[in-house]
Amino acid sequence: MCGIVAYLGEREAYPVLIKGLKRLEYRGYDSAGVALLDNDLHVYKKAGKVSELEAFVADKNINGNIGIGHTRWATHGVPNDTNAHPHMSNSGQFALVHNGIIENYAPIKEQLQKSGYVFHSQTDTEVLVNLIEEVKKQEKVSLEDAVRIALNQVVGAYAIVVIDKENNDRLIAARKGSPLVVGIGEAEFFVASDASPIIEYTKHVVYLDDQEYAIIDRDGTFTVKTLGNVEISPFIQQLQLDLESIEKGGFEHFMLKEIYEQPKVIKDAIRGRMNATDGWIKLGGVSEFANRINNAKRIIITACGTSWHSGLIAEYLIETLARVPVEVEYASEFRYRNPIVNESDVVIAISQSGETADTLAAIEIAKERQALVYGICNVIGSSIARATHAGSYTHAGPEIGVASTKAFTTQVVILTLMALQLAQQKGTISLSYLRQVLYELDNLHVKIEATLKLDSHIKEIAAKIKDVENALYLGRGYNFPVALEGALKLKEISYIHAEGYPAAEMKHGPIALIDENLPVIILATNESAYEKIVSNVQEVKARKGIVIAVVNEGDTQIKQMADYVIEVPKTEEVLSPLITMIPLQLLSYHIAVMRGANVDQPRNLAKSVTVE
Ligand code: AGP
Ligand code: GLU
Repeated sequence: MCGIVAYLGEREAYPVLIKGLKRLEYRGYDSAGVALLDNDLHVYKKAGKVSELEAFVADKNINGNIGIGHTRWATHGVPNDTNAHPHMSNSGQFALVHNGIIENYAPIKEQLQKSGYVFHSQTDTEVLVNLIEEVKKQEKVSLEDAVRIALNQVVGAYAIVVIDKENNDRLIAARKGSPLVVGIGEAEFFVASDASPIIEYTKHVVYLDDQEYAIIDRDGTFTVKTLGNVEISPFIQQLQLDLESIEKGGFEHFMLKEIYEQPKVIKDAIRGRMNATDGWIKLGGVSEFANRINNAKRIIITACGTSWHSGLIAEYLIETLARVPVEVEYASEFRYRNPIVNESDVVIAISQSGETADTLAAIEIAKERQALVYGICNVIGSSIARATHAGSYTHAGPEIGVASTKAFTTQVVILTLMALQLAQQKGTISLSYLRQVLYELDNLHVKIEATLKLDSHIKEIAAKIKDVENALYLGRGYNFPVALEGALKLKEISYIHAEGYPAAEMKHGPIALIDENLPVIILATNESAYEKIVSNVQEVKARKGIVIAVVNEGDTQIKQMADYVIEVPKTEEVLSPLITMIPLQLLSYHIAVMRGANVDQPRNLAKSVTVE
């Protein structure tokens, strides 16, 4: 995915664009570029970070109060200056920024080449801008019509903004599958992939829907139409976001800030949704569909990456507490394997960004097959939040570090509430147990604060193992998905190869990897299988592996065997992932920093994957 930003108004466009691109950089950082329209159209683009673009334009003409900008996560063509956006049409009249993939770019490109078009980049985007130019020429229509006709010919996903050298009073923006929001200020407009580049200028925004485009004019006219050329009245929303929440607030990295925000966001996630004393839970959207949810024959959870890991925790929670069968599916598999789903199923889709292409496609399949789809998203107004029948927001606030942390813990909180609510409805748990868990959840932020205080100890452990090439994470029960997530965190940001396993599976293969250089991070807070975990620790020690054990405060047995111990506050076993995840996040963070890796923007990754 990429970040798009555009401006039209009375200000100088460049500072707005560059600041916006920096905020959107989490979405991609392979290259950055801007097109500014003054008396002439100036396009500047550079491989690498937005800061490289800034250095590059230092001595250039950056005047103009209309412009478009882009920060890229490459799909078609390597990250270099030529493939960077904006892309120009052959005549030089149009420049375009694009987030997404034009799937049928190859035949269109061939056709255009036959008509004499020359392509400089390997991108699908350059094909689209030239298609628009060709349509305009052949059909002798306005740019607006040409954009609409061209978009009706392309297959795939896009958010685009187009600028016309001959008209510095108009921008055209369109979306299908990739997000786009328009900020409406006093005599000025902003367009961006998310609201972060807009917040300090205006709180009035319009989220474009799929298959919609906007014609934005300097005289203040703002028209939204469908790709079928039907005008619709845009729904203007009030932005909830504040500036502070998207800045680092004194932390060295967003990831660290977001790890430290967890006590607060967990409170935000439960606020108004439960009461421990009275023993009730009220999740938004559930009551309307209470019958279908309570009588679901089966629950299917679909998601990707970290969100899939929180889904796996939910499988343990829902099956244990509510006794409803649960299947957890990678959205990318679910969408293509012709799954058996019907109206008696409830599908839960989990996504931080709410824009993940595979998860969105999985939702469509579930809906086609009449299942009730419940969304758990962090980004308010995101595509997944809108595509689902009902849902709950996680209220974690903007998560900017590419490695997900607070989004995960808040997802787990919502899923825990769902499992408990379902269990209560089904009568599979007692009121006193419900109250006990809710009471613990209500106070969990205190234990998370205490866990965060272990930071300097965890940093010392990080220093000891930072140079390893491999690591193994083991956990049982609720801690098995935590092991998977711990391994994902380490590989994402430190580039150390890591694998997560159910602790007992170690002896079926991974044990062959163990030697004196392999750190094995063992989650050992479970009460139910404690003795089994003790045996797993023995097995690793017998092969000279380096054991880093996460144990409950007061543990004696494992503490004696492990090389390094992280003692965390004890909690209800069903809530344990919310505690055990914290040290693993911190461990990965410190290792990555010590290895000089770019923690917030790890190589090859993007915050949300809006392409297949
Ligand atoms: C998390 O650290 C990852 N960067 C990634 O696995 C992520 O969780 C995945 O792409 C799903 O994103 P979503 O939650 O926004 O749908
Ligand atoms: N397909 C375009 C490119 O490769 C845009 C990529 C994206 O949005 O991720 O440049």
